[in-house]
Amino acid sequence: MKILLPILSILFILNTPAKAQKQEAYQAIHSGIPWFDNQKNIVSAHGACIVKENNRFYFFGEKHSDSSNVFTGFNCYSSTDLYNWTFESIALPVQNSGRLGSNRVGERAKVMKCPKTGEFVMFMHTDSTNYKDQCLGYATSKTITGPYVFKGPLLFNGNLIRKWDMGTFQDNDGSGYILIHGGEIYKLNDDYKSVVKQVHKNISSGFESPTIFRKDSTYYFLGSHLTSWERNDNYYYTANSLEGPWTFQGLFAPQGTLTWNSQSTFVLPIKGSKETTYMFMGDRWSFPRQASAATYIWQPFMIAGNSLSLPSYKDTWKINLKTGVVTYPKDTQKVISHADKKSITYTGQWQNNVSDTLNIQYSNEKGASFSVNFTGKQIGFYGLLRPDGGYAKVNVVNSKGKKVLSALVDMYCKYPIASLVFLSPSLPKDKYQLTVTVTGEHGTWSDKRKSNYGSSDNFVSLSKIIINE
Ligand code: GLA
Repeated sequence: MKILLPILSILFILNTPAKAQKQEAYQAIHSGIPWFDNQKNIVSAHGACIVKENNRFYFFGEKHSDSSNVFTGFNCYSSTDLYNWTFESIALPVQNSGRLGSNRVGERAKVMKCPKTGEFVMFMHTDSTNYKDQCLGYATSKTITGPYVFKGPLLFNGNLIRKWDMGTFQDNDGSGYILIHGGEIYKLNDDYKSVVKQVHKNISSGFESPTIFRKDSTYYFLGSHLTSWERNDNYYYTANSLEGPWTFQGLFAPQGTLTWNSQSTFVLPIKGSKETTYMFMGDRWSFPRQASAATYIWQPFMIAGNSLSLPSYKDTWKINLKTGVVTYPKDTQKVISHADKKSITYTGQWQNNVSDTLNIQYSNEKGASFSVNFTGKQIGFYGLLRPDGGYAKVNVVNSKGKKVLSALVDMYCKYPIASLVFLSPSLPKDKYQLTVTVTGEHGTWSDKRKSNYGSSDNFVSLSKIIINE
């Protein structure tokens, strides 16, 4: 033992610097790009919420497929920094039969911990694939990551709640509420397993993806118009009580940005020693490739008086979880312009568009590609999202020829906007090749009333590549 102890301490000391050097995959919150989880799979958790438990954040949402809107389960990921997500479980899998059985719709999973029972209760929208059998349901679990046991419909006076878009809100006194499209609010029983009363009736036709948060004594109620997976200018109301009266406040993102091309789903208060930051969480849908190409738009709210805003889009920002303070890191990466033909190899037909506001290479030719070899740890690129944008396939291969990352990027937006569209997680320093290929496909879908939406062509574009060496 006398000899073993010093040896163990030496081993421990030798081991420590290696641990300290371990670099996390992401060092910031990045919106509008596919995120890779700890297993290098794309994070799929849409219509999401976040619950904090024992100093860990748990992120629940819809697990999607790349072919249809059929329910494939609700995923759970966890994180200690809100940047890096560990896949935990399919918290609620597809059931053998019933409302969340095969060939059904399950959306907007929202979890709250019931203060009375200590149980975790998950609420959701269940439906048929044509959205004609809508009904709210719930599931419970003793542990936060599940598996949750699906209990069936959530009842109000013994009746089903036949509604679709929903959210939840937990007030400071622990009371739980269900929010419904249109602005209805229902109070849950103290075991969170049924509804005791309707607190508020409709305020607005539409008003999907309902989301409430509270700052001091003001409640903020956010929601979207009804445009299916297309984005629109979301709006909000404020009140001093959930019963209302709710005052219409207008948009919280600049008009025409379509809520920075996203739909609200949740607001996470991040309470620090100096500030509480309220984080807007939105979905940038990408039907039908929702598993691969739908992304997350997470932005810090500005709040002045009762006025809520997201005045500018931040593709990258950091939050200090101790202080609650938001910072915007400086760009320190090496930049390669699209025009640098020594560094970038183009195959197929690419066109150049240079103006004061635009400087890109673009192509809609299926199979056309660009690639770049680099030595470093992280690579990303910017392009132009546009009404005729399509899907780009992104592959990163290491020096041994092994594919280390693969993603699909959606370059569609209803209005043209230059944007970060891909950023790899930090990789071990090596020689890599990034290749981006025009797939010849684009997002397109129809809504519950059979109106058609989506892109009109398959354009992929490049303005610049960024590399962290
Ligand atoms: C809206 C809703 C989503 C989903 C889609 C389906 O975006 O907010 O939850 O139901 O429509 O079209």
